[in-house]
Amino acid sequence: MSTFSFNYSTVNKASLTPQYATLLLRAEEALLLSYSPYSRFRVGAALLLANGSYRLGANQENASYPAGICAERAAIAGINPLNPEHKIVAIAITYSTEGHFDSPVAPCGICRQVLLEIEHAQQSAIEIYLSSPSGRVLKIDTAEHLLPFHFSKGNLD
Ligand code: THU
Repeated sequence: MSTFSFNYSTVNKASLTPQYATLLLRAEEALLLSYSPYSRFRVGAALLLANGSYRLGANQENASYPAGICAERAAIAGINPLNPEHKIVAIAITYSTEGHFDSPVAPCGICRQVLLEIEHAQQSAIEIYLSSPSGRVLKIDTAEHLLPFHFSKGNLD
């Protein structure tokens, strides 16, 4: 029997550097970009890039449901993962909804796959901050940990 395990930590927001505190705030700001008339579940994502800039994205839904896109991929669509300036250092994701508030949001399977592709392309890990409206934040060190036994470019080489 083999076991896969990974570490995650609960983030004490007071101990964040200004750059990371801003990252979390920018994810909240991204909620304003959400177009989610169907689910009424707003998701905001903020990327911290290697050049110190932030990029925002929010979920964009559509009457043709599968045409919608998640916040994480909306943010990622604006960068080139092969540009060293655009290397993603960290992503913060948050949400707002009428119901539950305390569980940090977890990226969907497709977004995990996309984050992992970028990690491989940029050859460095992406720190992932999962946030909740109540203020709970979890940190995961790499997309690799969100998607064990993944399919990747290596399978096609
Ligand atoms: N959603 C995201 O934007 N990111 C995720 O990782 C999970 C789900 C969006 C898609 C849809 O607009 C809404 O949340 C409900 O599924």
